[in-house]
Amino acid sequence: MGDRGYIASQMAQQTTTHMVDEILALKAERGAAILAHNYKRPEIQDLADVVADSLKLARSANGIDAELIVLCGVHFMAETAAIANPSKKVLIPDLEAGCSLAATIQAEDVRTWRAEHPNGVVVAYVNTSAAVKAEADYCCTSGNAVAVIKALPPDVPVLFLPDFFLGNYLRQVTGRQMDVWLGECHVHAGLTPEAVAVKRRAMQDAEFLVHPECGCVSNTLYSISVGDIPRERTHIVSTEQMMVRARESQARRFVVATETGVLYRLRRENPEKAFYPVAEEAECRYMKMITLENLRDSLRDLKHEVTVPPDVAARARRAIDRMLAIG
Ligand code: 13P
Ligand code: SF4
Repeated sequence: MGDRGYIASQMAQQTTTHMVDEILALKAERGAAILAHNYKRPEIQDLADVVADSLKLARSANGIDAELIVLCGVHFMAETAAIANPSKKVLIPDLEAGCSLAATIQAEDVRTWRAEHPNGVVVAYVNTSAAVKAEADYCCTSGNAVAVIKALPPDVPVLFLPDFFLGNYLRQVTGRQMDVWLGECHVHAGLTPEAVAVKRRAMQDAEFLVHPECGCVSNTLYSISVGDIPRERTHIVSTEQMMVRARESQARRFVVATETGVLYRLRRENPEKAFYPVAEEAECRYMKMITLENLRDSLRDLKHEVTVPPDVAARARRAIDRMLAIG
């Protein structure tokens, strides 16, 4: 690096350090808690009180001892925290941090299905707007979806929404017949059977950690069932369950099929093990919208508060409470 490059990198480091100091001071002054999803940028994870998957974030928001919560996730996560904590103020540093999967379904779509299935049960993945959750009977995350489907009353029509890959996986694992909404996450859909097969050939000793939203998930289950891939070295799990598996496994190398932000925590918590993404480009642009700068601004200016109309919140809370009680 030349002199100019060195000076520029020193200045950037000083700016970052200054911003971190500002965030810590504002956080203390406001008595705020910072909650971050496992996909967040490393510098955001480093500042958070809790770094977790969607289920643990929802549970933490419920139990945390702070009047102000800054949710470094995407919009539906902040809504879920606001619904579960009507007495707390919930902020998201960038209102544009949405979710391509949540955007595939609207409340009206659920009402249309219900009109055709008057005794039906609707299970909404947590990646949905509050308005959609308000139309659902149960909510679930990738961390407890199997348990939620198994807990449903028998012999009633079921709609699972909005993720097609997860819904299909749930059908295969639980044997429950369900209508499944045809939504997908643009990041996970790109993690295809072909991409996983390339890694399998290259790293035969590795353990595979696969998120159930991935495009490869049905194929993975099939390959396990016919003995093409070893069951004990393939785990279809939420991002938090990936942390547990990586900690407990004897394997030294892991291939990870999900958004690449998860690698930071996996590597930090397991420095003696190696983690490889199925695809380096599996990055969620919404998750990366939260930066040190807008986190600082959020704490300083108390923006952007996420609120849910009370009637919507009351209906959505039923489904969320059921999710928090299961799994
Ligand atoms: P988790 O269920 O592991 O939180 O990940 C799902 C996801 O894509 C969050 O948007
Ligand atoms: Fe939504 Fe996919 Fe981003 Fe998760 S990774 S927030 S499901 S767009």
